[in-house]
Amino acid sequence: MKKAICSLAVLAALTSAQAFAHQEGDFIVRAGLASVVPNDDSDMNAGAKIEVDSNTQLGLTFGYMFTDNISFEVLAASPFTHDISLQGMGKVGETKHLPPTFMVEYYFGDSQSKLRPYVGAGINYTVFFDEKTSLGTLSLDDSWGLAANVGLDYMLNDDWFINGSIWYADIDTKAKIRGGVDVDVNVDIDPWIFMLSGGYKF
Ligand code: NI
Repeated sequence: MKKAICSLAVLAALTSAQAFAHQEGDFIVRAGLASVVPNDDSDMNAGAKIEVDSNTQLGLTFGYMFTDNISFEVLAASPFTHDISLQGMGKVGETKHLPPTFMVEYYFGDSQSKLRPYVGAGINYTVFFDEKTSLGTLSLDDSWGLAANVGLDYMLNDDWFINGSIWYADIDTKAKIRGGVDVDVNVDIDPWIFMLSGGYKF
C-alpha cells in the first residue's frame, strides 16, 4: 500500500511537471524591487555637468506568452525619484520619472523546464515629471529609446516562481534649468535596471 502511494506521488509529480513552466497562452505577472542605476553622462555647458543618482522602487511586469518561447512584456513601476547634481555644486534639484518599457522576449527551454532564462529587446519611453530645482525651474524632455534585457525565472511550483532580471535602456534627455543660472544640458542617463521579483502565471 505504502509503495502504491509512493508511486502515485511520483506519478502526480511527473504529471504536474508536464506543464511546469510558461507555455503558450500564459499570462505572467511579476512584482518586486527595481533599482534604476544611471550610467549617466552629460555634455558640458557653461562648466555645468549634470549627474543623476540611483533609486529603487516597486517594479511590475506583465507578459503574455504567444508561444512556449516568445512573449510580449511590459515593465512598469512606481515613480522613480532621482537627485540631480551639478558637478561642483552638489544637489541642485530632483525629478521623478516613469520608464514604461515594451519588450519582445525569447525564453530558452520549454514548458517542462523549471528554469527559464530569457533575453528581450524593445522600446523604452521615459516621462519626467515633478522636476524641482533650487536654481529656478527645471524641465527634462521625454525620451524614446531602445531597451534590452536578460532574466531568469525559476519555477517553485506550477504557478509561482522567482525572478531576477537586468535591463538596459537608452534614455537621453535635455535638462533645462532657468533662473539665476540658465543651463541647457543633454543628459544620457542610459541606466541599468536591476530587478528581483516574485512571479505568478495563469
Ligand atoms: Ni543614450
